[in-house]
Amino acid sequence: MDRRPIGIFDSGVGGLTALRSLRALLPCEDLIFLADTARVPYGVRGAGELNAIAEDNFLLLESLGVKAVLAACGTVSANCAALIDGWPTPACGVLEPSVRAAAAAARGRAGVLATEATVRSGAFERLFASIAPELELLSRGNTELVPLAEAGRTSPGDAEVRAALERALEPFRAAGTDTLILGCTHFPLFSEAVKELLPGVTLINSGEAGARAAAALCSGRGLLNPGPGPGSTHYFVSGDISSFAAAAARFLPGGIEAAEISRAERERS
Ligand code: DGL
Repeated sequence: MDRRPIGIFDSGVGGLTALRSLRALLPCEDLIFLADTARVPYGVRGAGELNAIAEDNFLLLESLGVKAVLAACGTVSANCAALIDGWPTPACGVLEPSVRAAAAAARGRAGVLATEATVRSGAFERLFASIAPELELLSRGNTELVPLAEAGRTSPGDAEVRAALERALEPFRAAGTDTLILGCTHFPLFSEAVKELLPGVTLINSGEAGARAAAALCSGRGLLNPGPGPGSTHYFVSGDISSFAAAAARFLPGGIEAAEISRAERERS
């Protein structure tokens, strides 16, 4: 048993898909969410830069006293696996749990829609080759959706959102993909529109898969907070606090109270 908080980080609102799931799975835990919006988007950066960013985020969360870390970011999970696995504080990412969920659901044709840096890393291909080599895999990178989500624009009724999604999803429709991993944690925020555009396709929410892995990690290491709860949530933001709060209010029922949000102070940036 351990009453310290669990840390979660992403470049921005995408990680809220993991936070929502983790809150539902572990209602007694105190959660600390780091939104590194000063450096969003991560998905266009190189592996060296992403590792430096991930290390910064781990150090910041550790300075806040977390007992475990969820890298709620496909890009970091794909490019910084050795850092996550080797970090002294128990930590996990979102990639492997997403592939395991897809392997259990897919009927032959799996797809991954993620950031360009994730696709470039080849990490999904390697995981599918070892976990589900029988599946055909189509992966595509995307740079259009993260800025829309950061602006709070995910609705299927938004013409620009719909056009961006049509472009992003067409290769999967053409390939007959039956199970699609939304492999950037920002992308499940578009699930409603994706379901309309790819009816019948099973969607894997990478944020939710990562949250399940983090809950299993804490449980397996004897780190769970027995309560009584409910646990608190505190948000640290490296960029503009009010824009993050405005976008997050669209994705979190009840929004965020001013007292729950602080500036993320870093030793280096
Ligand atoms: N949400 C992150 C991911 O899962 C980062 C997206 C970005 O900042 O480009 O890849």
